Amino acid sequence: MRQYHDLVTQVLSAGTYEPNRTGIDTVAAFSHHYEVDLGEGFPLLTTKKMDGYRWNSLIHELLWYLSGEAHIRTLREETEIWDAWADDDGTLDTAYGRFWRRFPLPDDHGRLPGESWPDDAHRWTETETAPDGTERRVFDQIQYVLDTLRENPRSRRMVVSAWHPGNAAVSTLPPCHYTFVVNVQAGRLNVHLTQRSGDVALGVPFNLAAYSLFAHALATRTDYEVGAFGHTFVDAQRLARGRRPAGARRRGLRPRPRSPHAVVPGARRPAAHRGRRQAARRTRRRRRPAPRLRPGAGHRVRGRGVTMRVVLVAAVAENGVIGVDGEMPWHYPEDLRRFKETTMGHPVVMGRRTYEAIADRLGGPLPDRTNIVLSRREDLDLPEGAVHAERVEAALDASAEALDPDQAAVYVAGGATVYEQFLDRADELRITEIPEAPGGDAHFPAIGDAWTELDRETHGELAFVTYRRA
Ligand SMILES: NC(=O)c1ccc[n+]([C@@H]2O[C@H](COP(=O)([O-])OP(=O)(O)OC[C@H]3O[C@@H](n4cnc5c(N)ncnc54)[C@H](OP(=O)(O)O)[C@@H]3O)[C@@H](O)[C@H]2O)c1
Repeated sequence: MRQYHDLVTQVLSAGTYEPNRTGIDTVAAFSHHYEVDLGEGFPLLTTKKMDGYRWNSLIHELLWYLSGEAHIRTLREETEIWDAWADDDGTLDTAYGRFWRRFPLPDDHGRLPGESWPDDAHRWTETETAPDGTERRVFDQIQYVLDTLRENPRSRRMVVSAWHPGNAAVSTLPPCHYTFVVNVQAGRLNVHLTQRSGDVALGVPFNLAAYSLFAHALATRTDYEVGAFGHTFVDAQRLARGRRPAGARRRGLRPRPRSPHAVVPGARRPAAHRGRRQAARRTRRRRRPAPRLRPGAGHRVRGRGVTMRVVLVAAVAENGVIGVDGEMPWHYPEDLRRFKETTMGHPVVMGRRTYEAIADRLGGPLPDRTNIVLSRREDLDLPEGAVHAERVEAALDASAEALDPDQAAVYVAGGATVYEQFLDRADELRITEIPEAPGGDAHFPAIGDAWTELDRETHGELAFVTYRRA
């Protein structure tokens, strides 16, 4: 793969040192391009590990793009590479596939007189109905390319865009490989990809392999010979290692991955491979004496050398409702994201009914947190990642057991019966105020004079409020 190695050399020699928002500085170079002839072989690097879990992730990510799904609930069954960017419900604030297959079209008010737009009956448009019953019109860019390849292969309009300016302006991860063009010349199908940003060592080998595979799939599907893959970068970079900001180093934080592809190379292995490492961690934890807890000692639970704060985290409607029929009566992705960020890495205590609702939705326990499930059922069968506690004290013991000393907080995630029992023991409440008053059968207990509002942060229609004991 001479072209790829030339690219790396060019970036390292022509690039300039740039501090970066992620905390990992880079060597960056402007405007680079390379091209490979796919007819000469498949461009899978041999100078970098691209096999096993990495190859499996690459294929499933491409299939996921083509599925048009805007969430990762299916994808995460195969790979964790997008997990860092999704909330617990698997929702993302930008998804390539959604724009590839279901690019939003302006409604009647958004169209200017005289402008051309496909009508409702047009073959590439579809009207979708959202869960709240509203309708929206979307355009399938991939079907458009497939049909155009068959009917008008010399078209120079086979452009697929994953970039929506309004979404990109506010998204936490706007698309890096944001547009590609399919082009047919001399009976060969070529694909040209443009990236606004690409890490030549981490992500680019995966982009190269994934889009080459896609070019092969398109060519096979439409009976063309596969041609070339061209790849252009506006900002091509290489991470300058060992430059984490002092604050992050001090707190032992690892910088957030820059893109899902950045996660792949150092990727966490699938569950089967992780087993041994996790088992070792569990063994270490078990050997450490669990802090002795004094349940009932007011709102604070103290252990030997550890003080564990008890934090209740809940989304509460104006009328105190938190749930109906075992579910939450609303869907606010910002709240789910907030919940994930708040609880990540900590033990989380919940009632059996709440656990079951979560497991139904996610296909298992909340990832990367010890789920401590309260239930009086002796025969409760829980998968790895969840721990059964038959009493409140047992749940606190299990939390202390799962606690890393520098975390020192357990999060209590409901439902109603569990909030009720933990309120008197809690040190802090993290309440998302929901601007609705739905009917419900589960309520948050009254927040009385014992509590004082410490912080209030508004986020769109929602308010994130922290209470401490008065
Ligand atoms: N808005 C929010 O932030 C939020 C958060 C979480 C949940 N919710 C909602 O709340 C509702 C669920 O709440 P819920 O009150 O019906 O159920 P829950 O509190 O989630 O679970 C109740 C179950 O937990 C077990 N349990 C509770 N206390 C226990 C104790 N001291 N010892 C042993 N086991 C104990 C029992 O399980 P067994 O029957 O197995 O013994 C009990 O039936 C759902 O609608 C859910 O969507 C909302």
